[in-house]
Amino acid sequence: MQGQAPVIDYLKELLRGELAARDQYFLHSRMYADWGLSKLYERLDHEMQEETQHADALLQRLLFLQGTPDMSPEPINPGQTVPEMLRNDLALEYHVRGELARGITLCEQLGDYVTRNILLAQLKDTEEDHAYWLEQQLGLIDRIGLQNYLQSQM
Ligand SMILES: [Fe+2]
Ligand SMILES: [Fe+2]
Repeated sequence: MQGQAPVIDYLKELLRGELAARDQYFLHSRMYADWGLSKLYERLDHEMQEETQHADALLQRLLFLQGTPDMSPEPINPGQTVPEMLRNDLALEYHVRGELARGITLCEQLGDYVTRNILLAQLKDTEEDHAYWLEQQLGLIDRIGLQNYLQSQM
C-alpha cells in the first residue's frame, strides 16, 4: 500500500534513530561485560534486542508503505564511565520520546492510525521501561553512592 510522503520520511528518520539506539546499547552492554558488571550487561543486552525489535517494526511498516529504508544509523553518543553511559542512554531515550510524540501527532493529522499504533507501543516501551529504568539507576547512584551501585551490578 502506498504510504503518505510525510509519514514515510518520518519513519525513515525514526528507523535511523532506533538503529543508533541499538548500536549504543550494543556497545555499552559489551563494555559492561568487559568490566565484569554482569547485571548491567544483561539488562543492556536485553535493551539492545528491544531496540532491534523497534527498528524491525518500523522497517516492516516502511516497506509495506513502499518507502525505501535507509539503514545507516544516526551517530551514537557513547559514555566512558557508568554514570556517563547511563546519562547518555537516558538522553537518547528522551530524544526518542520526543520524536515518537511528534510522529503520533503527524500520523493522527494524516489519518495513518496503524503507523500511529506502532509508534504508541514504542512510546510506552520508551517511557515506562527504558527511560524509567535509567532514571531509577541514576537515582540509586545518588542515594547509595557509585561504589555501592557498582558492587550491586557485578
Ligand atoms: Fe526504541
Ligand atoms: Fe528505548
